[in-house]
Amino acid sequence: MKTLNTLALAVTLAFSSTGFAADAAKDFTQINSKIDAMVTKSFPAGEGQDLSRLKQDETQKTCSVRANQPTGAEASEIIAREKQNIKYPASGNLMGDWKNGEKLTSSGFGMRIGVIAPDPVAKQKGGNGGNCYACHAVSPKEVAAGNMGPSLTGYGKYRGTSAEVVRYTYEKIYNAQAFVACSNMPRIGHNGILTAEQVADITAYLLSPESPVNQ
Ligand code: HEC
Repeated sequence: MKTLNTLALAVTLAFSSTGFAADAAKDFTQINSKIDAMVTKSFPAGEGQDLSRLKQDETQKTCSVRANQPTGAEASEIIAREKQNIKYPASGNLMGDWKNGEKLTSSGFGMRIGVIAPDPVAKQKGGNGGNCYACHAVSPKEVAAGNMGPSLTGYGKYRGTSAEVVRYTYEKIYNAQAFVACSNMPRIGHNGILTAEQVADITAYLLSPESPVNQ
């Protein structure tokens, strides 16, 4: 009798936990659609408000549905797709002008839209920066830095400037999700925030031995 009761309890638990998983999935979809509605509402149409950016592509959809925890197969699919869309400067030179890279790294203009402080249209058209300090420490001289991403201080000093390192750094900045499927780092080149040449300038800023990053 005792065994039967235990069995009944196990069966009940098994069923209720399946029910729980289904409820959680339903809640998640409902919460997600509420969040989508709120986000859409907070970006009114108007000059310089590029609302097409609210529409998610396949990569973003998968990352949202999985709360940034894609399955192994989904992650491989994303990485393969994002790798394919990396573009390079026409010159083929991935190490640009570090001084210009320094300016782009520090500039916070990065296609911000919304009601609080959208970037002026002139700034959005070709005047963007990388907004790197929002998430990374970079130059040892700059103390106001975020820490969502790893510190990049001394980046080139520790890695050197081999062709592999240069290529990885360029590609990572151009499209972070070509390496970490659901990275929190924006796809800076892919999304047209910066041009391929500007990404090469930032690559030089991170890697050049003369750059303040490596002093
Ligand atoms: C919204 C936050 C955010 C912004 C803005 C951002 N990053 Fe990142 N970055 C991250 C996170 C998080 C990681 C770690 C996860 C990953 O590797 O994708 C990362 C990783 C990196 C890496 C890889 C480091 C390594 O050790 O391999 C590099 C290089 C990098 N970022 C450079 C930049 C540069 C340059 C900019 C500005 C043009 C920038 N990031 C802007 C969040 C950000």
